[in-house]
Amino acid sequence: MKIAVVTGAAGLVGTEAVRFFRERFDLVIGLDNGMRGALFGEGGDVSGNVAEMSFIPNYRHHDVDIRDYSLVAQVLATYGTDVELIVHTAGQPSHDWATERTLDDFWINAVGTLNMLEGARRHCPDATFVVTSTNKVYGDKPNTLPLVELDTRWDIHPDHPYHHSGIDESMELDNTDRTFFGVSKLSADLAAQEYGRHLGMKVGVFRCSNITGPRHAGVPLHGFLSHLVRTAVAGNEYTILGHGGKQVRDNIDARDLVRMFWHYHLEPRPGAVYHAGGGRERSTSILEAIARCEQLTGRPMAVRYEPHARFTDAKCWITDTRKFRRHYPGWEPRHGLDDTLASMHAHWSSFAAAPASAAPTSTEIEQERV
Ligand SMILES: NC(=O)c1ccc[n+]([C@@H]2O[C@H](COP(=O)([O-])OP(=O)(O)OC[C@H]3O[C@@H](n4cnc5c(N)ncnc54)[C@H](O)[C@@H]3O)[C@@H](O)[C@H]2O)c1
Repeated sequence: MKIAVVTGAAGLVGTEAVRFFRERFDLVIGLDNGMRGALFGEGGDVSGNVAEMSFIPNYRHHDVDIRDYSLVAQVLATYGTDVELIVHTAGQPSHDWATERTLDDFWINAVGTLNMLEGARRHCPDATFVVTSTNKVYGDKPNTLPLVELDTRWDIHPDHPYHHSGIDESMELDNTDRTFFGVSKLSADLAAQEYGRHLGMKVGVFRCSNITGPRHAGVPLHGFLSHLVRTAVAGNEYTILGHGGKQVRDNIDARDLVRMFWHYHLEPRPGAVYHAGGGRERSTSILEAIARCEQLTGRPMAVRYEPHARFTDAKCWITDTRKFRRHYPGWEPRHGLDDTLASMHAHWSSFAAAPASAAPTSTEIEQERV
């Protein structure tokens, strides 16, 4: 039997991974303890995603906390060497939360990842293991690039090579402020590389920029585009934190990211590190994203501006994915930013109309092809 394991299965990336892999594996095992709800309150509740996935016949959910090695090992031992792929997305994704609850953050992001890697080493060492790392491992290093302030966005100076190609994997990791979240994610990232480079396991590390998609339970502390669209649909006030609202992120639709994982799985390179993002054409500043939301809803958004930017908040991040494309030329992102925003708008509008039952059933869910 061919089995895929997805941790954080109820989250944005996890839920898209389950949906994608259910057609390619006999069984998909999900691990998620619903912690996003506990982390972020009602707005972060992912139980709707769990309920939705219960309709998938070859999906099995385990309410497991990845901080507990014995539980993780028990699940992996149960399925053993039938496990061919592990996509590890469970995590605590917020800088602010990590600052307040530093130990919990480290246990979830760093120790939880180590638990998964070690469990895989003991029970399914030949499985491909995908780690969802983040560009936040570089801390505020992107703010040391030459930048220009334009009318609606910060940008990398046109004379700098990163302006055209985006930021590649050679960015320095040291000599930077990083946040505790960046520290816990970098710890996981480095441990994962060690399992690949030292032990030869098929571990791939994906340093992602902004990941987005209709199933993101966006909240003020995490999930910028999802939270913005959700706020626009609800007619609530959105708060911009610093940088004139001109801070730029490139965005990758979670469905395109999952297709990257699949390409990696077909030809894994142990210990490889890749940047994953949507590139310049899927980049937006907050001001530009607000304008797009206003077009979608047909009404102006109420916006409040707080001049103090988040600690280490990058003024401009645009991802260079050329390394991954060189290794896996069959991959390219399929979802444009307008397309992703439109599906997020449709998703949150349907929730606004009928909150309890609006989640589409698995039969309605779009099937993603390679
Ligand atoms: N969303 C982004 O913009 C982004 C960007 C870069 C990197 N990442 C990384 O990608 C991964 C997935 O991100 P996402 O946006 O899907 O996050 P998400 O919050 O939507 O999903 C994470 C899931 O992990 C679960 N979880 C948390 N702690 C757990 C624990 N102790 N045990 C079991 N399950 C637990 C949560 O309940 C949640 O469903 C994360 O590791 C995140 O750091 C995300």
